[in-house]
Amino acid sequence: MASIHEHTYYDNLNKWTANKVDAVVVVVDYQVAPQYKFPVATYDVFAAVKRFLQDDILTKYGVDPTQICISGDSAGGALATLVTQQMINIPEMKNKIKTQALIYPYLQTVDVTTPSTKENEHGPLLSMEMAIKMGCKYLTTDEVCPKIFRTNQHMPQGSRHLFRLVNWSIFLPEQFKKNNVYTEPLTGRFDPSYAGLTDIMLSPLLANDTQLQNLPLTYILTCQHDILRDHELTYVTRLQNVGVQVVHDHIEDRIHAAIVYMGSLFYLYLGITLKDKYISWLEENL
Ligand SMILES: *[C@@H]1O[C@H](CO)[C@@H](O)[C@H](O)[C@H]1NC(C)=O
Ligand SMILES: *[C@@H]1O[C@H](CO)[C@@H](O)[C@H](O)[C@H]1NC(C)=O
Repeated sequence: MASIHEHTYYDNLNKWTANKVDAVVVVVDYQVAPQYKFPVATYDVFAAVKRFLQDDILTKYGVDPTQICISGDSAGGALATLVTQQMINIPEMKNKIKTQALIYPYLQTVDVTTPSTKENEHGPLLSMEMAIKMGCKYLTTDEVCPKIFRTNQHMPQGSRHLFRLVNWSIFLPEQFKKNNVYTEPLTGRFDPSYAGLTDIMLSPLLANDTQLQNLPLTYILTCQHDILRDHELTYVTRLQNVGVQVVHDHIEDRIHAAIVYMGSLFYLYLGITLKDKYISWLEENL
């Protein structure tokens, strides 16, 4: 199993996972922003996973090549998602990924005005402002970036045809749309030189149906109080539409990044259900 994430809070989770699931857990220590910008992290993760899934390496670590899971949460969930998308298009790799486990992954940078972003704009843990600042640091040194994102005017000219792939109004189940009215992002308002805004390596939701249809069994965990919730609900629908087997756990009273807090006493309760769900799913499927 390869697990993808960004910092040491996760050590406990990974140790726990290794013991509980009796798995080899590989953690990719990818290079992070602001020092390393898009797409450095994606290359790091891609290279590490590709290397680890070579037959000789799997044998060396005693890993059963039919029992591989790619996993990650939040930004790491984006990397897990895109690396799985890429891997299935490499013939000698495609049979090796049995499943992907995505914990509230970040999946698109196209539209920042989904219902879940509006509902959870001020957090609690991940606010819209934080997400935009982190996203901009990953993309550019241009200080105007957050301002353009806040107004949903960051997409480059000529990218409108991509909107249907992330259009929440098409893909969200009714109960999550509530009374929100879809408004499309505005294009061509700023310097189109920001790398990646139309790239599936930044927004895995931009993969088209053909690119999604051969994905392996997918586990997606979403939290109600999370600005990213609609990214994931959109992915669930898009995967189901092309016949990918999806197991979706939606947790009503949980917030983004709750799994990270399972180590601290105060948040123990918040993290524990998520961890239990994630681990028991791995136990059953690996
Ligand atoms: C988004 O979806 C709605 C239907 O729910 C449609 O009316 C609208 O044209 C779509 N917009 C884009 C840009 O895909
Ligand atoms: C999907 O994307 C791939 C890769 O960019 C492209 O080759 C293919 O033609 C696209 N398929 C459709 C149906 O748009």
